[in-house]
Amino acid sequence: MAHFLTYLLLSFLIIYDSLGLSQSNQFCDAGVGYPESTCGFSSSSSSKLLIKGGTVLNAHQQEVADVYVEDGIIVAVKPNIKVDEDVTLLDATGKYVMPGGIDPHTHLAMEFMGTETIDDFFSGQAAALAGGTTMHIDFVIPVNGSLVAGFEAYKKKAKKSCMNYGFHMAITKWDESVSREMEIMVKEKGINSFKFFMAYKGSLMISDELLLQGLERCKSLGALAMVHAENGDAVFEGQKRMIDLGITGPEGHALSRPPVLEGEATARAIRLAKFVNTPLYVVHVMSIDAMEEIARARKSGQKVIGEPVVSGLVLNDSGLWDPDFVTAAKYVMSPPIRESGHDKALQAALSTGVLQLVGTDHCTFNSTQKAFGIDDFRKIPNGVNGIEERMHLVWDTMVESGQISVTDFVRITSTE
Ligand code: URP
Ligand code: ZN
Ligand code: ZN
Repeated sequence: MAHFLTYLLLSFLIIYDSLGLSQSNQFCDAGVGYPESTCGFSSSSSSKLLIKGGTVLNAHQQEVADVYVEDGIIVAVKPNIKVDEDVTLLDATGKYVMPGGIDPHTHLAMEFMGTETIDDFFSGQAAALAGGTTMHIDFVIPVNGSLVAGFEAYKKKAKKSCMNYGFHMAITKWDESVSREMEIMVKEKGINSFKFFMAYKGSLMISDELLLQGLERCKSLGALAMVHAENGDAVFEGQKRMIDLGITGPEGHALSRPPVLEGEATARAIRLAKFVNTPLYVVHVMSIDAMEEIARARKSGQKVIGEPVVSGLVLNDSGLWDPDFVTAAKYVMSPPIRESGHDKALQAALSTGVLQLVGTDHCTFNSTQKAFGIDDFRKIPNGVNGIEERMHLVWDTMVESGQISVTDFVRITSTE
């Protein structure tokens, strides 16, 4: 961590105008490690800040320079900026100054598996800010299949926000009204990425027919299709097999949905996207099997984006085998955290550009919620944390190990 000295939250300042900053003093009131001067900022009072002498990083270059910020907007980045006495000075000598992180994959206050994620738009974002992430993109879940109702519900949830956020939208059923509402999302609500779940049979899962129609609709709207790629029918079968064998603990979660099912669904989604001729974003790539499908498609020239998540990059499945249920259940997410070896392969794919950016899939449940599945792993709410830890874990795992440069770090945690 020697050089990872300070995140100066530039994107927080740059993107000040977007959704959800009205309650930023709620964050200050909570006293979560934020300087008083910053908490003093408000959209109505003028502020001037000079960040002096740091090494300014972006995705393409690094240079020793000063950064001058007025009212949350970066006005100048160059060496030796001279300013008046009313400007607040921040000495960044010997530190990196970089954009705040953007987490492209989170689930705050999400209703899922009979409960709701324990981090809401305030506690999750406070954690994000503490870890250097200043913006995230959350997945709106439709209400009774309605995207507009889902959007309204998430706008309410997000009233607690203390930082920037955006939305993707999940598509969980298909009819004329969903197709129409997709257009409303793109043209009126600023949502232009739609996630299709190929797993979670009986709840979020969609059929190939729906996926195909959804891909076509994304193409016609110029929107980006995203997939959760696991074969949900086979997972369902795998789960039955485990229960029949008397395997009810968290290890049954991983055993019932092996990498081959992630590879199969990834390949299927990639081929359907090719058939439709539209780009595809594969979320939470957890296995070599899925990563190799993405690598093959990209090599052939197809537009496929692969997003590993920090849990898949730095962990292996050993936690799932912990004899203590409370510990093991913490590691239950889908697709599952894989055996040792997948983590290193995903890191290598990230460093060579086969995978492009890192999310978290932050989707937290407390031990009481996880205990819903004490007798049956199928009832353990799926999800792990990461929104606070992503930046430093990627730094430690990828930069400190020499697998990527500091500018690559900015690219994969923010710019992309
Ligand atoms: O286990 C997970 N990944 N929970 C969140 C929902 C999803 O599939 O992204
Ligand atoms: Zn998913
Ligand atoms: Zn997710």
